[in-house]
Amino acid sequence: MQILVTGGAGYIGSHAALLLLEKGHRVLVVDNLFRGNPGAIDRLRGTLDDPDCLAFIEADCTDPKTMADTMRTHGVEAVMHFAGLTYVGESVEQPLEYHRVNTGGMIAMLDACARAGVSRFIFSSTAATYGEPAEQPIVETTPQHPINPYGASKLHAERVLSDFVASQRGSSFAAAALRYFNVAGADPSGVIGEWHVPETHLVPIILQAAAGQRDAITIFGEDYPTPDGTCIRDYVHVRDLVEAHAMVLDALQPGDDRRYNIGTGKGLSVREVIDAVKRVTGRDFPVRKGERRAGDPPVLYADPAKINREIGWTARLSGIDEIVRTAWDWMTNNPEGYA
Ligand SMILES: NC(=O)c1ccc[n+]([C@@H]2O[C@H](COP(=O)([O-])OP(=O)(O)OC[C@H]3O[C@@H](n4cnc5c(N)ncnc54)[C@H](O)[C@@H]3O)[C@@H](O)[C@H]2O)c1
Repeated sequence: MQILVTGGAGYIGSHAALLLLEKGHRVLVVDNLFRGNPGAIDRLRGTLDDPDCLAFIEADCTDPKTMADTMRTHGVEAVMHFAGLTYVGESVEQPLEYHRVNTGGMIAMLDACARAGVSRFIFSSTAATYGEPAEQPIVETTPQHPINPYGASKLHAERVLSDFVASQRGSSFAAAALRYFNVAGADPSGVIGEWHVPETHLVPIILQAAAGQRDAITIFGEDYPTPDGTCIRDYVHVRDLVEAHAMVLDALQPGDDRRYNIGTGKGLSVREVIDAVKRVTGRDFPVRKGERRAGDPPVLYADPAKINREIGWTARLSGIDEIVRTAWDWMTNNPEGYA
């Protein structure tokens, strides 16, 4: 199948592209390189016997005409839409930009699909759409009340998707939005990994402390109502996450508008993740006490039963040691990332 991967020069999109290529699909990456790494595309090319299986176009996913022309020219049959802006703090400072790219990008991509006759669509949504839910674990029907513009822009995008699917009843259009929890780790092959500038995710930040690239790691709040006082999150390995995309794509039926949580169902505290990094890397580093940050719920973890029941997906590589080991291998082998 010819699959368009938007945001394919980014962390998760590049891992999806690698998996899809391994499965024998042809992949077209569209990325405006705002935060993506052209080096990730080079690494993907290096894995291929047939270089024509992968194409890259530097373009903006918020432009529906360019997206429709691109889909037609390349015979795109399905879209995985990862492109977006992803920083919670930045979204508070630049809410219009987040709505323009995340919600507007969804509108443009669906418009392009309609013009080009593309009928399968998978969207990167997020646990941030749930905000601070009253119940744990979080199920797909847990009310969605985002507490920042990032989460709101993703929830709006989900709603645009639902309205579009409803308007296409009777056609072959089918879609799913996957709500990721905390994605971490690197492809076990070592070909690609996580490289964000700036880095805001916990696992690579702790690894930077282990590598001596940071003086220390700061824990924001040790007085939460959790067993060790630190926040609890659900960490899913990026390879497991992209496997879920491939499985959902195979399962889509005309008219579908599916929603799935993608997590392990197990919460780990910040303290437990720090301990895992110390254990796996064999490195010690200072840990400092910081104040709580506004808008950090004490506990967030998924109930992944729905995707397990309906699609058969389960997280296989998502033990914290495996996540840390693959991310550490990537970091130590690529100290300058894709530079
Ligand atoms: N990383 C996580 O833990 C996590 C959790 C929940 C949801 N998500 C979602 O998954 C998706 C991928 O996240 P990631 O961590 O790989 O982020 P990333 O920043 O590494 O990748 C996003 C990519 O999108 C590209 N992009 C941004 N705006 C664009 C535009 N207008 N047109 C074309 N390309 C554009 C960027 O250049 C970048 O390469 C995002 O939509 C994010 O919201 C990620």
